[in-house]
Amino acid sequence: MNERQDGISKAVIVAGGRGTRFLPATLAIPKEILPIFDRPMLFYALEEAANSGLKEVVLISAPGKSVMENYVTLRGEALAKALGEHPSAPEVQGLMDSLSVTIVHQNEPLGLGHAILQAADAVGDEPFAVILPDDIVDAETPVLAQMLAAYRDYPGIHVGVERVPGEAISAYGVVDVEPVDGDNERVYRVTGMVEKPELADAPSDLGIVGRYIFPGAIFDAIRRTPPGAKNEIQITDAMEILRREGTPTFAFAFDGVRYDAGNPLGHLRAAASFALARPDTSEQARAMLEEALSQAG
Ligand code: G1P
Repeated sequence: MNERQDGISKAVIVAGGRGTRFLPATLAIPKEILPIFDRPMLFYALEEAANSGLKEVVLISAPGKSVMENYVTLRGEALAKALGEHPSAPEVQGLMDSLSVTIVHQNEPLGLGHAILQAADAVGDEPFAVILPDDIVDAETPVLAQMLAAYRDYPGIHVGVERVPGEAISAYGVVDVEPVDGDNERVYRVTGMVEKPELADAPSDLGIVGRYIFPGAIFDAIRRTPPGAKNEIQITDAMEILRREGTPTFAFAFDGVRYDAGNPLGHLRAAASFALARPDTSEQARAMLEEALSQAG
């Protein structure tokens, strides 16, 4: 049963990629299972969904990623036995037991829009949220919870955004915006968007970060979306179709620190930051990092 006021109970977590930026590790291990400090990348996405009140996860997986699928399937007795007396046991068990996870497959890597389309049957015709687990945001209030609160005041499509330096902008979906009525300074109305523009063509410096809220109509829009940037079916293009057809579309400048854990250096930065932030490890982490820095000269 969906008891949320905003009618959203499902989070689609997109994890069907091949992880080529993490080769050779990803020859055998899905990128989403690589630990960031001591928890798999996917764990942070599951945690964000649960802590935002979304207990039904649709995980987009792909052939060959059974290790990841096994991870999200462990429950109850089996999970308790595997965790044993480990200090993380209560937290991990509490999280996993609170979530239902439906797994669907993206059988061919045809783009993010195509990946999200694979969730159509599992989601049905209702609004839902999307998390790209590469984008980890450390925030007091989970980003999705922040966005769901804004969605209640501004129904429509929502995308998370942050300011991106010019040299990196061509890796993002980029939005053009104008102010909205009302007093939420983090919400903008989107007046256009483009996937992976050249710097000269970028409509602003607001890059889309991997958090979205969509109406069920997005699936039909994806079916009508031709291949775009990188010759892939892009979710940005599907959103732009709905926006032009009249769906109110908003960009949300979230509060939090975002880590691009989809590449090895961003992954390292996230791991170091998390180890430094945890009371039980911060002192040792700082000493180790300082030592590593001085050794490197
Ligand atoms: C995807 C989206 C892009 C977004 C980015 C955020 O791109 O297509 O619009 O800005 O995620 O991480 P990808 O990183 O998969 O190329």
